[in-house]
Amino acid sequence: MVSKTHAIEILSILITSAVLGYVGLIAGVGLVAVDTPPPGSLHVTVVARQFYWSFEYANGSVITFPNGTTKAFPNGYTTQNTLYVKAGEVVDLDIISLDVAHSFFIPELGVHIDAIPGHDNHYWLRADSPGQYSIECTQFCGTGHYTMIGQLVATA
Ligand code: CUA
Repeated sequence: MVSKTHAIEILSILITSAVLGYVGLIAGVGLVAVDTPPPGSLHVTVVARQFYWSFEYANGSVITFPNGTTKAFPNGYTTQNTLYVKAGEVVDLDIISLDVAHSFFIPELGVHIDAIPGHDNHYWLRADSPGQYSIECTQFCGTGHYTMIGQLVATA
């Protein structure tokens, strides 16, 4: 025979477990969604070095500037310190370092991820509006750390 007190304890444990399980499920689904880039990604490898960034376009791209001129980025094309993307385009990033630890930071887009030698980090971004966004290194990486500034150019 279960006493009334025990029944209340068991019921409260079951209700608490159900609520926490539900919250955990919602949080887990949200975390996976945040880390999974939407389909149709432009793929760019971000390479950090003392003391500059380079951006390698793995699967090519063509962008159009406001004055109507276009610029093509064939497979494997690499730019230095400037990353060109289309506004609204999902960009899938592999972030690597060829020497010491750096950190890839685009404050206006909320992108911040370390570039670690020997470790391939993945991230994605989308600039919703055309414009220029500064790219900064936020890890002290040597005497030229302060010069390690790039920009992301998003065209319409
Ligand atoms: Cu690279 Cu600081």
